[in-house]
Amino acid sequence: MCTQAKIPILLLLLLLLPLFCLSAADSASANNEAIEARSISNPAAREALEVGIGIGIGIGGGGGAEAPSPSESPPAAGCGCAAPAPPPRGELQPSDFADMKLYLAYNVIQRFKKSITCDPNGVTASWNGADICNQYKGFYCSNPPDNQTAITIASVDFNGFGLCAPTTSGFLDQLPDLAIFHANSNNFTGTVPDISKLRYLYELDVSNNRMSGPYPTTTLALAQQLLFLDLRYNFFSGAVPASVFGLDVEVLFLNNNNFNQPLPATIGRSTAAYLTLANNGFTGAIPPTIKNTSDTLIEVLFLNNRLSGCLPYEIGFLGKATVFDVGYNLLTGPIPLSFGCLGNVEQLNLAGNLLYGHVPDVVCQLGNLANLSLSDNYFTSLGPSCWKLLKSGVLDVRKNCIPGLPMQRPPWQCAYFASKPKFCSYVPTLYHDVPCKSCSKNGRFDQRLPPPPWTANRKERAAPSPTYTALHRQNP
Ligand SMILES: *[C@@H]1O[C@H](CO)[C@@H](O)[C@H](O)[C@H]1NC(C)=O
Ligand SMILES: *[C@@H]1O[C@H](CO)[C@@H](O)[C@H](O)[C@H]1NC(C)=O
Ligand SMILES: *[C@@H]1O[C@H](CO)[C@@H](O)[C@H](O)[C@H]1NC(C)=O
Ligand SMILES: *[C@@H]1O[C@H](CO)[C@@H](O)[C@H](O)[C@H]1NC(C)=O
Repeated sequence: MCTQAKIPILLLLLLLLPLFCLSAADSASANNEAIEARSISNPAAREALEVGIGIGIGIGGGGGAEAPSPSESPPAAGCGCAAPAPPPRGELQPSDFADMKLYLAYNVIQRFKKSITCDPNGVTASWNGADICNQYKGFYCSNPPDNQTAITIASVDFNGFGLCAPTTSGFLDQLPDLAIFHANSNNFTGTVPDISKLRYLYELDVSNNRMSGPYPTTTLALAQQLLFLDLRYNFFSGAVPASVFGLDVEVLFLNNNNFNQPLPATIGRSTAAYLTLANNGFTGAIPPTIKNTSDTLIEVLFLNNRLSGCLPYEIGFLGKATVFDVGYNLLTGPIPLSFGCLGNVEQLNLAGNLLYGHVPDVVCQLGNLANLSLSDNYFTSLGPSCWKLLKSGVLDVRKNCIPGLPMQRPPWQCAYFASKPKFCSYVPTLYHDVPCKSCSKNGRFDQRLPPPPWTANRKERAAPSPTYTALHRQNP
């Protein structure tokens, strides 16, 4: 990285810019501390640094003193005026390292470093020498589970580094003891490399990169092993293989890609507690097999896809769910009374669909509701408890067809929608059966319910939702 140091310094001096160079160096060290805290809090410092890099690269390349073409592999960090020159390549021997595993990792890291085409935070400047465990930013060491006397790289955390590299192949797949790989907000392209040999890997986060191509099926090789899989904010496209929902994960974030396919029935095999498929092109109906996830599913976002069909009655079995969000799809039908069994639900978003009919009182009586969004549908009436929620601001029914309420659709829109044939109303039991409540003989819902447990502090105990947090590009 800093082999070009002398040329840029001389030229910068000649250009009477030494003050600028020093200030960029200060920014670099301030920035490195910020990285350690996993948050870049000083955008001004970063900008200065980036400008510094730009000048360093331009002059170093123009000087023609070094072999690598500046556009292919520019120096990754700093203006080169502060960092010490690294030892010549090839000097380090296995004996220089605390463990043979680290020597092997050293070679892998140095190869990867050469492939990096941008490093706006200058982190790769620290990737020098034999002390990987203490000096290299983003690398963390530990003892591998199978040998407590060995030292190896157990975790890589590049979150927010902004590194550009054409591929992580030859790097990620060559760190055999890795348990955690976090690379949120980098500019890695290509796809997820073959990770099938990484026998300890359980957290993989490549969110907010520029990866593309079909779903990275290499993740399926670790079906029993991965607990956390975050592919959100990339350019993956096509179908998510049905077996992805057979992964034994707790967290599966696939939002903000270009997946487009009917939701597979195997979604019922998902073990995920936190599942987001939001902001893709999923089509078709929500499979009734979703009932099978009722022991594990806590938050699910189907938000902003092209799902269609009627809301399945089986959703009502998701008794653990705190977040259920199917907003902005093409779903239709009335709300099944089974929704009255979502006893833990806090965020229930059905906004922006083609739903209609009566909003069942049992839904508005759900004791943990903090936000019931039904706006932008075609509902025509509200259960008595719903009016209370309206008053307290928990319920949003703007842009529906409810007589006597402000901010509803114009009558012609409601009339037009009402005149169109409906497909979801012909199985009345699905809309009248509440699986978690006692039912009278005619299968109708027994109205004698305990009073709704409204509490003043309902909203206060709401913790940040992992799935809604995942709708943001950057990790917190
Ligand atoms: C454990 O690791 C140490 C250090 O790398 C090595 O010398 C030793 O042979 C390893 N033990 C086994 C059983 O692999
Ligand atoms: C990736 O590179 C583009 C320009 O190629 C840049 O606009 C963007 O900010 C970079 N993203 C990250 C996360 O660094
Ligand atoms: C859902 O569970 C039922 C009964 O436990 C089982 O027969 C069915 O195969 C499961 N479906 C899926 C998609 O896992
Ligand atoms: C309620 O949820 C909707 C849909 O997710 C969201 O747009 C809105 O901001 C939320 N309202 C509150 C008060 O949190």
